[in-house]
Amino acid sequence: MIKKKRLAIILGVVFGIILLDQLYLHFWLSSPNTTFQRHLDIEDVRQLIRAGEDASVTTILFDPVILQAWRNNADVAVPGVCIFLCHVIGPLTFAVTAAQLRDKPVFLSRLAQLGFTVTLFDTPDGKRSHIFLFRHGSPLHLTVLEMTPAGYLRQHSLTGPPHNMAVVKQYITKDAWNQIKVDRAYERFSTRDAKIDGIDLTVPSDVMAFVQDYRSAQYMPCNESRATFYNLKHMKDETAEEVRFKHKAWKLLAKAKTILDQLKVPFWLSSGTLLGFYRQCDIIPWAMDVDIGVFIEDYTVRLIPEFEKRGLIITHKFGRVSDSLELSFKEEEVKLDIFFFYTEGATMWNGGTQAKTGKKFKYVFPAFTMCWTEFLDLKVRIPCHTEEYIRANYGLSWFTPIKEWDWKSSPPNVRENGEWLPSERADVIFVKE
Ligand SMILES: *[C@@H]1O[C@H](CO)[C@@H](O)[C@H](O)[C@H]1NC(C)=O
Repeated sequence: MIKKKRLAIILGVVFGIILLDQLYLHFWLSSPNTTFQRHLDIEDVRQLIRAGEDASVTTILFDPVILQAWRNNADVAVPGVCIFLCHVIGPLTFAVTAAQLRDKPVFLSRLAQLGFTVTLFDTPDGKRSHIFLFRHGSPLHLTVLEMTPAGYLRQHSLTGPPHNMAVVKQYITKDAWNQIKVDRAYERFSTRDAKIDGIDLTVPSDVMAFVQDYRSAQYMPCNESRATFYNLKHMKDETAEEVRFKHKAWKLLAKAKTILDQLKVPFWLSSGTLLGFYRQCDIIPWAMDVDIGVFIEDYTVRLIPEFEKRGLIITHKFGRVSDSLELSFKEEEVKLDIFFFYTEGATMWNGGTQAKTGKKFKYVFPAFTMCWTEFLDLKVRIPCHTEEYIRANYGLSWFTPIKEWDWKSSPPNVRENGEWLPSERADVIFVKE
């Protein structure tokens, strides 16, 4: 019996190590520039945690690869053997909050006392963003998370004196560098205690949710100087009615976000709403509706009932899940359009249907990925190459305000796409005015 258990443990350990090696092989291969490698010294980690405890600063393990490997093999533990943490290539990352770091300056002096060389990085506007700690082994990395008024966590890109940047670059893999050199945003998460490799650490409570959130965390702020330029050029001069529309449209977008977040359906700002964000960091006051995009793979049959439960009445349903699905809801005279996107080779498209004639249209975009942004206090997604998406939709003169727009002919990316058969129409065209 005992023998069997031992065998199981040994097999588990071997399997765990093979898994970790596979994960890190990926990192090795993707980091041909890494010239300097040193092993993690587990004692450095212990000292970091101690400094945090002494100063009441919570250091949260923030490495998605290690967290995932540990979660999947948490039962593998061999006294005295460092299975998870020591497999890191480059710096091992922990997170601290900006507020704790600011309120507990003793933390950094404690680290220096314990023998760490502390290298600080700040954003151009003076916010602490990253800290690298060098002691005996490979460096430790502290990423500073800032709680935003909108209720999510911001991680600032790594910028700093060229010399310090070059030092960090020596130690880091290409993947890790690509992540650290951009702004990122995370959902708030709770933490719990966990013993990993014999060390008492703090980890995100829901590791899988954290890992998933981590994977697509790139953040791009709205370009305020472009918005200022636009407003100067076009004299921001809104009527009372336009201001009322903007308020209602914002409420509708916020409600859609709440519902879709609960359904775990990712969405992004599309069409006019995206144009307003990109051009003027605002809702276009004469837009009439709110537009969002959703990948068809994320569609769920619970979507329409959930919207209706919250008082959003469905007014249009065009197409079907296998082709050109499009939904519209209405609240307080403002329409919410949900365009479903289909991937086809290097393009992504959404469909359109003319209710009167049954004619089909197709709006074709170069394939895109999602980034986070903050739009009027809401954390929402946008296509990362935002301008490419907007140009596909509105052409090169997107910066010029246009009030006349025909969805069947104006967009440069519109294509005719046949028509629904008369026998299909009852099924694919639903209009309730
Ligand atoms: C903001 O927009 C202006 C004008 O389009 C552009 O020149 C500038 O590079 C943009 N800034 C950033 C950070 O993208």
